[in-house]
Amino acid sequence: MLKRLQELEKEALATLDAVEEEDALQAWKVKYLGRSAALAEITSGLGELPKEERPAVGQRANQVKVTLEAAYDSRVEALHAESLERSLREQLLDVTLPGRPIVRGRIHPANQTLREITAIWAEMGFQVYRSRDVESDEYNFQLLNFPPHHPARDMQDTFFTTEPEILLRTHTSPGQIRVMRERAPEPIRVVLPGMCYRYEQITARSEIQFNQVEGLAVGERITFADLKGTLIAFARRMFGQNVGTRFRASYFPFTEPSAEMDIECFVCGGEGCTVCKYTGWLEILGCGMVHPVVLQNGGYDPEKHTGFAFGMGPERIAMLKYGIDDIRYFWANDLRFLEQF
Ligand code: DAH
Repeated sequence: MLKRLQELEKEALATLDAVEEEDALQAWKVKYLGRSAALAEITSGLGELPKEERPAVGQRANQVKVTLEAAYDSRVEALHAESLERSLREQLLDVTLPGRPIVRGRIHPANQTLREITAIWAEMGFQVYRSRDVESDEYNFQLLNFPPHHPARDMQDTFFTTEPEILLRTHTSPGQIRVMRERAPEPIRVVLPGMCYRYEQITARSEIQFNQVEGLAVGERITFADLKGTLIAFARRMFGQNVGTRFRASYFPFTEPSAEMDIECFVCGGEGCTVCKYTGWLEILGCGMVHPVVLQNGGYDPEKHTGFAFGMGPERIAMLKYGIDDIRYFWANDLRFLEQF
C-alpha cells in the first residue's frame, strides 16, 4: 500500500507539471484530491487494512495529501503569473514609460473673484442671499423705480422669454425687492451674487452674461456716511489697506443720491496708464441710498427706515486685478486662459 501511495504521488505531481489550462487544473484537482480520488479511497479504506499497517499507511496518505495540495496551490500561482505576463506582452504595455499626469480642474477666475468678494462681505456681517435668474418685468424694472422710457428697458438690452413680462434679469437689483419683502420690517444686511444677462453686441468690453454682486443694508438711521465707510472698508480688504478711493455723483433709478466708486489705479499707482486710461482711477461699483419708492415697494416705511445699496461686477474686478483685456475670455472656455488661474 505504501508503494501504491508512492506511485500515486509521483504520477499526480508529473501530470500537474504538464497542466497549462484552468480547465485541466480543475480536472486534476478532482482526479487527485477529489472525494472519489484514489487517495481518498485509501484513506477511507484504512479500517480494512491489517491493524499493524494502519498507522504507517495513514501517515503516508496524509503526507501525500499535504504535498499534492501544496503543489496544486503553487501551480495555480504559477499559471496566474504566466497568464499575467502573457497578457502584458500581448498588450505591448511598457510599464517603464513615465505616467501621464492627471489634469486637475480648478475654480473659474470669475468664481474665484466672486468667492473673494462674498467672503469679505460675510466677514463684515453680510449674509449671502440667492435670487432667481428668471425675473418678471415688475421686479427687474417697475419696483426698482425705472421710468417706462428708461434706456435699460429697451428691447436691445433685455432678453425676454416667450412668456409676456418674463425676462432674464439684467442686473441683481431685483433681489433687493425679494429680500425686503421677505424680511420687512427687520433690518437687512445681505449680498446677492449671481449671473445677469443683457441683449448686447459681444465685444472685448461687453458680454451677454456676467456676474454681479449686489449689496443691501436697510435699517434705522443708516446714512450716506455708513455707505462710504462700509465700501471703503471693503475696498481696503479687496485691494490693499492703502488703496485710495473716491466717490463720484451718478444716477440710478433705484437710489437717491447715487454714486460710483473708484479706486486708485493699482497698476500705475495713480500716475496714469493704459489700464486706467490715464485717469489714475478705476471704477469698481455703483451705489447709493435706497430710493424711498424702492423701500416702500419692499415693505419698509421710508419715514422710519433708510438703507444703502451697491452693485459690482466680479469679472470687471478680475479683469482689473489680473490685467485681462478682453471680457470674452471668461465664457469662451479656452483652457489656455483658464489654466492661468
Ligand atoms: N444695478 C446696477 C447695474 O446693473 C448696479 C447698481 C448700481 C446696483 C447702484 C446698486 C446700486 O444696488 O445702488 O448697473
